[in-house]
This record gives sequence, structure tokens and C-alpha cells, in this order.
Amino acid sequence: MTTIKRLGVLTSGGDAPGMNAAIRAVTRTAVNNNMEVLGIIGGYQGLIDDNIIPLDSYSVRGIIQRGGTMLLSARCAIFKTEEGLAKAMQTIRKRQMDALVVIGGDGTFRGANDLIQHYHFPVIGIPGTIDNDIYGTEYTIGYDTCLNTVVDAVDKIRDTGSSHNRIFFVEVMGHESGFVAMNSGMACGAEIIMVPEQKNQMEKVRSFLAERARLNKSSMIMVAEGVEGGAMAIAEKVKQEFPQFDIRVSVLGYIQRGGSPSSKDRIAASELGVAAVNALIEGKYGMMVGYERNCIHLEPLEKAVKMHKHINADIIKVAESIGTFTPLD
Ligand code: F6P
Repeated sequence: MTTIKRLGVLTSGGDAPGMNAAIRAVTRTAVNNNMEVLGIIGGYQGLIDDNIIPLDSYSVRGIIQRGGTMLLSARCAIFKTEEGLAKAMQTIRKRQMDALVVIGGDGTFRGANDLIQHYHFPVIGIPGTIDNDIYGTEYTIGYDTCLNTVVDAVDKIRDTGSSHNRIFFVEVMGHESGFVAMNSGMACGAEIIMVPEQKNQMEKVRSFLAERARLNKSSMIMVAEGVEGGAMAIAEKVKQEFPQFDIRVSVLGYIQRGGSPSSKDRIAASELGVAAVNALIEGKYGMMVGYERNCIHLEPLEKAVKMHKHINADIIKVAESIGTFTPLD
């Protein structure tokens, strides 16, 4: 058991629906364990600038249903430097923080890992990103809400696409991974799903479209933003090769990051927030709290940032058996 008197909490990187629920869970669990909680505003930049507010159970009321993050977020280049880290550490010492909870994605965890490696400061990570691309956890906060947003948007696009017999390319987020595309594509009944995990997919897509041209059917093609060139570039190529198709592109963009979190995200954020504080109390630092086989699980942060999370081959098989073409080898 470790005595933590003062705990810092921050959100960093791309915001994700459910981050507020995680801040709430961390704060309330810490307060219930007699800790003071400091909310760091604007991610690691807030730590460098000493931009900090006190949090208590009351100040995190009414936020569980809100998207975004009440602590604001940022991508902080200076935190990647020795100088930035040192400034952040000065604030930590000045504020007498005993430990830190960071909520975010791989960039956030890289920062946390630097703090641990350089200063042996106790940090624990909570995975919050719509991309679901963090190694060591099956699930990241925000992913479910994002999938629901995509499904809702694509269902609407499908209505107009099929009324005009058009081929629609829909680009979704996911950074360099294809989780959002793969799972939302399956849920939308996309005819083709293109993910960045596989290179040189065009040849296979061409043969699929040649068959489609013969049948003269409308189609929904889900493209992850990390696929070379993105949906615009792919659609341009296809337009030239299949001039008979009426082709349109929709880049869904930042609507995928916003909105009220789904119940799944609120519950996951609550579970992970409680688990993060409990792990700190038990003296478990340098870890990320996540899910393995649907149960709370601790993964070393160092491993979470170094390893790559792969799309489960079973999900690809499922997509293919229900008629979705995934141009993977
Ligand atoms: O990591 C979440 C994410 O939304 C990615 O899917 C996307 O590539 C990226 O963030 C966009 O980042 P920014 O907010 O810096 O434009």
C-alpha cells in the first residue's frame, strides 16, 4: 500500500467521448480515499505552465453525459524534450503531487513513459481514444460512441447512395489503424472495407468493382484515413478506371470525436477510472489499466507504447462471411 496525498489528473491528445466520465471516476475514487485531486488543464502543456485547478466530488458533477473533456486537451511537442519534461517535473514538485493519472492515447502514454523513465515518477494511464489502437487493452474509451456516430452517419449516406445508385467512399478516422473502419464498416454493411494494415489493396478492389459494374449496384466503401492517399485519392483513381460509376466521397471528420458518450463508454470510463486509482493505492505504477477478455487488466505502459495492436483475424472472417469484401491477404 502506498500513501498518496495529492493526485494529478490530465487528458491529452485527441479528446474522446467518455473522458469526462473517467475524470469523474478518478476524482471521486481518490476523494473517497482521502486524497486531494488536482486537475491539470490542457494536457502536458498545462503541467508545464502550472495551469491547474482543484477538483472534488462536487466539481465533477454533471459531466458524465458530456463529450469532450472538462480538463481540455492538447498535443504537446515541448513535452517530448528534456526541457519540457523538466518544467513539468518542477510543477509536480511545486504542487507536491504524489502521483499522476493520464487519460489519452499512444502519444499520451509515450509522454507518461518518459516521465517514469527520467524521473521515476508514479504515473498510471487510462486508454482514451476513438481509434481503439492501444496495445494491451481490447477497448479504449470513446471507441463505441465513435462507432455509433459513424453508423448513424453512414446509414444516412446509404439512403441517398442507393436512391441514386452511386458508389460512396466514406473516410473514417483511426490514425494509422483500421479498427474504426473495420468495425463500423461491418456494422454499416459496407461492401468493401479498406484498412491501413494492408498495403497494395487497389488491385483487389478493382476486381471487386469490375464485378459491381456488371451488376450496376450502388456500394458503400469504407476507407480508413490511414490508407494511402485516403478516400479522395482512391475515389479519383476509381473514377478514371470506371467512368460508368457515379462516385461520391464523404469524409466524416471530427464529428467522430464528439457527442454524448454511449453507456458502454460511460461504464468503461468509470471502471477504468476506479481501477487506475486503486492500482496506485496498491503501489502499481508505470501501468495502463485496460481490458483483457472483458476484465480489468494492467499492462506495463512501456509495452503499451512499444507494441502494435493488430486487428483480430476473426473479425475479418466475420465481415467476409456476411458479404463484406476486405482486401486483405
Ligand atoms: O487519435 C484520435 C484522432 O482523432 C485520429 O483518429 C486522427 O487521426 C487524429 O486524432 C486527428 O488529430 P488532430 O485532432 O490533431 O487533428
